[in-house]
Amino acid sequence: MANITYIEASGHSTTVNLHEGWSLMQGATANGIDGILGECGGSCACATCHCYVDESRLSDLSPASENELVMLDNVAAERHPNSRLACQIKASAALEGLVVTLPDVQE
Ligand code: FES
Repeated sequence: MANITYIEASGHSTTVNLHEGWSLMQGATANGIDGILGECGGSCACATCHCYVDESRLSDLSPASENELVMLDNVAAERHPNSRLACQIKASAALEGLVVTLPDVQE
């Protein structure tokens, strides 16, 4: 389990307790959080689950795969060094308290 806080572009913030193994995209869509679409269902093929990870926690995440890096070239909002695809980040105890900020557009 891990408490993940999502900050929408509006500034609205929601904290969700995610089961181990759930992706951050699943956590957002299952809890009605605006700002993550997840159109491909998590198969790293749509780039509509773009998020910005708290830079101080980047080292707690598994590195992005080659496929994720390619898809990050296709995000609608500006790509930053802390850009990740939320479907590729799986909840674990190591991510307790992680904060992700969501872009204002996903497509
Ligand atoms: S849900 Fe499609 S790339 Fe993440």
